[in-house]
Amino acid sequence: MTTSQKTALVTGANKGIGKETARRLGALGITVLIGARDAGRGGAAAEELRAEGADAHFVALDVTDELSVRAAARHIDAAFGRLDILVNNAAVAAAPQKPSEAPAATVRQVYETNVFGVIAVTNAMLPLLRHSGAARIVNMSSELGSLAHLADPDSPWSPYSSVLLPYCSSKSALNALTVLYAEELRAEGILVNAVSPGYCATDLNRRTGVRTPQEGAAVAVGLATVGADGPTGAFLSEDGPIPW
Ligand SMILES: NC(=O)c1ccc[n+]([C@@H]2O[C@H](COP(=O)([O-])OP(=O)(O)OC[C@H]3O[C@@H](n4cnc5c(N)ncnc54)[C@H](OP(=O)(O)O)[C@@H]3O)[C@@H](O)[C@H]2O)c1
Repeated sequence: MTTSQKTALVTGANKGIGKETARRLGALGITVLIGARDAGRGGAAAEELRAEGADAHFVALDVTDELSVRAAARHIDAAFGRLDILVNNAAVAAAPQKPSEAPAATVRQVYETNVFGVIAVTNAMLPLLRHSGAARIVNMSSELGSLAHLADPDSPWSPYSSVLLPYCSSKSALNALTVLYAEELRAEGILVNAVSPGYCATDLNRRTGVRTPQEGAAVAVGLATVGADGPTGAFLSEDGPIPW
């Protein structure tokens, strides 16, 4: 590995949009670390990408487990010495329920992955990201996290968002995190953005999405590799800015 070789960590990269994001970063010649909580699934995804010519490695990472997060950071430090790109992609959803019927325990469980997991991973990886001259953090959000959409009863997402309080509000919180990290890290040249991949057919939605995971990965890859003049603290889809 040369010192100019970039390294990217994608959380939840064993399948879906995360795996496709890793695949595309790998195809660009970036070393990709497949963060996954299951060694079998993560190892298989890394092997699949290596067979295509990518420099891909499995990294054990359960974003809800602080010990696992810290161990992953230590491992990346020892093996690569730095991190150039972090894609906070891992997420879970809960079964549809009206807000009034969503148990707090369910909301807490979703936040453990979608919100607290992102904070734990970002904070653990920041020392490594600071060793990159031009680090990028991409948070995989959703239009379902847009407060503007949630407040609009005529929004095309309304039928979904009205029964997905845990997931939608976790992505609203993720958007807030994005802005706050972007502000703190702006002076260091670390660009932090939230993206929406669009409605993609993955296990998260029992493959009801209308886009492919490959299509969904494009916007994250673009911001993961954007130049120093790129945006920070933005919320973007392929079509441009999304209202907060
Ligand atoms: N699909 C869509 O239409 C859509 C739309 C907007 C935003 N998104 C966002 O895109 C991202 C990827 O979602 P997807 O659709 O590709 O879903 P997916 O196929 O269900 O993939 C989710 C990934 O997250 C991993 N994960 C879950 N909990 C984890 C944990 N505690 N630690 C580590 N990894 C964990 C899963 O691993 P396991 O295999 O071990 O469960 C899996 O690899 C998510 O942030 C999602 O919110 C998706």
